[in-house]
Amino acid sequence: MKTERPAGVAGIVLAAGSGTRFGSPKQFALLDGERLVDRAVRLVTKAVGEPVVAVPTGYVWDGPPVHAWVGGGGSRLQSLSAAVDELPADAEFVLVHDPARPLATQDICHAVLSAVIDGGADAAMSAWATPDTIKNVRADGSLQHLGRDGMVVAQSPMAYRLSTLRQAIDHLMADDSTSPGSVTEETVVIEQLGGRVVCVPGDRWSHHIVEPRDLDLAHYLLADDAYDIH
Ligand code: C5P
Repeated sequence: MKTERPAGVAGIVLAAGSGTRFGSPKQFALLDGERLVDRAVRLVTKAVGEPVVAVPTGYVWDGPPVHAWVGGGGSRLQSLSAAVDELPADAEFVLVHDPARPLATQDICHAVLSAVIDGGADAAMSAWATPDTIKNVRADGSLQHLGRDGMVVAQSPMAYRLSTLRQAIDHLMADDSTSPGSVTEETVVIEQLGGRVVCVPGDRWSHHIVEPRDLDLAHYLLADDAYDIH
């Protein structure tokens, strides 16, 4: 069943990557017979209505109904910028999701949206508290201890106050010292601009599909109906 778009809330699915580490554009890989991009569109559609999808330049959208589709850019940030330009005019908040996280749930989509809509944050992402100790490797190879307490691993989906996201995109696009490709996700810029970025409890098993073996793990985990998209 199609979900009507809640007033002021819209969705984006970023599927314009080239899948360098995966070996092919992973958003078109199949997981239990469904392309990762179609699963992401299905999740976002259930949560907030039909999204804008960014696809690789030259690709013609052939998936489920969407609000609009656009050719993405050479970096995640450029793809996001192109998708933001196609959002409905009344959008104030936006849910941004990646096909690379096929185990994300509607509960998590609603939690990140609630953190910005009800909680007043500028951006929210799902993240899980790592049980591992985290170290930074300095340029000279020596380690800097960061610890474990308070460390979380960032995940998608994210939710944004759209005005803040637009500011962050404009700032990054105008900043010649930052290569767009170095921005793995845009909440960091919202932080740097003084915005409030928060996280909601994510799921340790909602792992990032990076290489084909990750799909085998996702297939195994999907047997748990907690990951069904209803
Ligand atoms: O490479 P990685 O998995 O970190 O990419 C995160 C997400 O950003 C993916 O869903 C990918 O399709 C998207 N992306 C994009 N346009 C790019 C690069 C990445 O939409 N140029």
